[in-house]
Amino acid sequence: MHKTGIFTATSFVVVVGVIVFFSGTSVSSAADIDAKKLYMTHCKTCHGENGKPTDLGVGLEARDFTDAAWQAKVTDEQIIKQINNGTPEKMMPFKEKLSQEEIKALVPVVRSFGKK
Ligand code: HEC
Repeated sequence: MHKTGIFTATSFVVVVGVIVFFSGTSVSSAADIDAKKLYMTHCKTCHGENGKPTDLGVGLEARDFTDAAWQAKVTDEQIIKQINNGTPEKMMPFKEKLSQEEIKALVPVVRSFGKK
């Protein structure tokens, strides 16, 4: 009887573990992230709706995302790094505010402004 008890307890832990694992991954799946909305919420104030810096952005010397020369030389890693760390006095870091999935999802949004 004692043995059966341990067996039941173990399978219970395994089942709960599997459920937690799968629900955890589905909650943060990339498909659920509305990257455009994230951009409009967190980035538009400086970088503008269309990737052209706003007055505030110009004052801070924000990057113009429609600049083809910049788009050609910047890597996705650099964009991710910039969103994570920001630039002191210019752009706030987002690593505490957004998940890594959300930050990655913003890269194609930034890229989309460079396409004519
Ligand atoms: C408070 C204004 C402000 C906000 C809000 C802001 N940025 Fe910036 N961003 C800047 C400024 C200023 C620079 C230029 C920084 C520099 O020259 O180092 C910049 C630079 C960048 C760059 C270019 C880095 C490079 O290699 O030249 C990227 C990409 C970027 N921001 C993405 C974002 C994204 C995505 C968001 C929203 C999650 C965001 N920024 C929110 C002000 C802002």
